[in-house]
Amino acid sequence: MDIENREDLYKIVQLFYQKLFDDDEVKHFFVEFLEPENLEKHLNILVDFWDNVLFHSGTYAKNAMQPHIEKHKKTPFKKKSFEKWLLLFSSSVDELFKGENSEVLKNRAQSIAIVMQLKILH
Ligand code: HEM
Repeated sequence: MDIENREDLYKIVQLFYQKLFDDDEVKHFFVEFLEPENLEKHLNILVDFWDNVLFHSGTYAKNAMQPHIEKHKKTPFKKKSFEKWLLLFSSSVDELFKGENSEVLKNRAQSIAIVMQLKILH
């Protein structure tokens, strides 16, 4: 089954964050979201973002790059962090869905991650 709506996107980011929390390489970036209230709010923002990417819903109009630039100043990102983030994102999509939208989602995550790395690490 392919991704069809926001509820599907919510399932993906929920699984993705469980994986991030369990991963020794990247979990330190996400400690603030161990708090259930913070997590729910954050996951809804992520769903707004991906809903806009995939279904042009108009739910996200900010520059997602900026919070990462700020976070990197306090908690430096490495090339390995991006690789792991992407691997866990793709495996979350693959474990739950299959089809054209799933491929588009993974490809967009990859291209945004490449641009983010260029901006942050260079
Ligand atoms: C090493 C890789 C990454 C790490 C460690 C990371 C970490 C984080 C953290 C800690 C936040 C919360 C920032 C804050 O609220 O101050 C955040 C927000 C977010 N991240 Fe990432 N991120 C990574 C890569 C990506 C990529 C590649 C994308 C998109 C494809 C992405 C999409 C987002 C979005 C949409 C938000 C919400 C921004 C907002 O509040 O408007 N992240 N990320």
